Amino acid sequence: MDNKIRITILGLGHVGLPTALGFAQIGWEVIGTDNDLDKLDLISEGVVPFYEPGISEMLKKYLGQGNFKVEKNQSQAIKDAQCIFVCVGTPQNSDGSADLSQLETVAKTIAENISGYKLIVEKSTTPVTTAANLRLSIQRHIDTRIKKQGKTSDDFEFDVAVNPEFLKEGTAISDFMCPDRIVVGVDNEKSRQLLKAIYLPLFESEDVFEEKFMVTDVNTAEIIKHASNAFLATKISFINMLADLCEAADANVADVAKGIGMDKRIGPSFLNAGIGFGGYCLPKDIRAFSWIASQYGVDFSLLREVDKINLDRIHKFVDKVKKILWVLKGKNIAVWGLSFKPNTDDIRESPAIAVVNKLLKLESNLKVYDPSISDILEKGGLPTGLESIETYSTPISAATNADALVILTEWNEFKEIDLIELKENMAVPIIFDGRNIYESKEMREIGFEYYGIGLR
Ligand SMILES: NC(=O)c1ccc[n+]([C@@H]2O[C@H](COP(=O)([O-])OP(=O)(O)OC[C@H]3O[C@@H](n4cnc5c(N)ncnc54)[C@H](O)[C@@H]3O)[C@@H](O)[C@H]2O)c1
Repeated sequence: MDNKIRITILGLGHVGLPTALGFAQIGWEVIGTDNDLDKLDLISEGVVPFYEPGISEMLKKYLGQGNFKVEKNQSQAIKDAQCIFVCVGTPQNSDGSADLSQLETVAKTIAENISGYKLIVEKSTTPVTTAANLRLSIQRHIDTRIKKQGKTSDDFEFDVAVNPEFLKEGTAISDFMCPDRIVVGVDNEKSRQLLKAIYLPLFESEDVFEEKFMVTDVNTAEIIKHASNAFLATKISFINMLADLCEAADANVADVAKGIGMDKRIGPSFLNAGIGFGGYCLPKDIRAFSWIASQYGVDFSLLREVDKINLDRIHKFVDKVKKILWVLKGKNIAVWGLSFKPNTDDIRESPAIAVVNKLLKLESNLKVYDPSISDILEKGGLPTGLESIETYSTPISAATNADALVILTEWNEFKEIDLIELKENMAVPIIFDGRNIYESKEMREIGFEYYGIGLR
């Protein structure tokens, strides 16, 4: 095996770009390509098309050192690689299933350009049996090529492996460099060995590597990824139902979460009550998981309930705002947070956007701040219907003269705000905290009318 493994990344999005730069940091020769040529232009100039802490510096460094290159010509990117990581999108179809058309396009592109042996690694999140179908599809396109070009099948050897990605937006680089585990689904030793060689340098010793490197068959690896996201989503909806109960029964959900989370079998993470989960992964993945289960005759109604509970959070939150403020029409409401979680400018399926939409329909005047607002406006813009909202460059300016403040994303900047200054600047000091970032008692002592989620 070469000293420097040559890796191509297909799809330089939120997963593909951090993965590419992570491999470049390990020391591999990485080529990144995408079918969005404007995105490739930006990346080749050292500009990251989305906000992710630490990634901009890495991009400049590895472009400069030459171990990360951007290639517009996908056939060249494929020809040059030993291993191709597929990081394209797997969005949702209207029936909840995963739209795998980007993978089918990739299958054709790979088959048309393959030369010599390639390991094709599916990093995108996909329903079980996608890797098997990807393999069949690549083979079908290769067979067509063999017939047309009169080559032999020895010229086109490949394997398909699954290596689901568990990185989180906002901590993508550290998640990639220090993973909890690396799951690989393979169907032969050759694929396992190449993936081992690729990932081994991330760890201080082979013993540590072996503890974290989990090898399964391809179908199992695909289920591990969907199951992980489904479990996390279930924890969130579970605590949110407890929040409703606490609110009705005059108990405190933050203490309930602490109390149950101290049990090592449960653990404290993903037990923060709030307006629910969003983003590009959890909502679509639980729907795709439940859909694929139904194709195998398994009724995963639990996940449909998790989804329903999550969607209901938005209505419950806005109903609470409506009930307490009485009339929303014409009121100035400050909004803190648009991204689906902190440390990202990703607003895909953001619960904050859903709340903003509802508040706008109720004819309130929104004054919006998000720490990534300039990235959101520059890189993708606001979603249709929200173009006219007033945006501000600081949280205090958004809250000045507001009749109420709603907090929709738990950015650290909000936790560190000067609360006295905030109170003095608001017209009426009412806070609806959709992420429970403050202590109710402290807020009331300062003089706020403070409403969290399931808090006393
Ligand atoms: N975003 C996350 O936090 C996260 C975490 C783990 C797994 N995933 C999964 O990883 C996959 C990618 O997610 P993402 O958030 O990076 O999506 P993304 O939309 O940010 O990036 C996907 C990229 O693929 C490109 N692309 C589409 N078709 C292509 C083609 N034929 N050839 C080359 N490039 C192509 C797109 O232009 C885009 O840049 C999805 O399956 C997602 O579920 C995402």
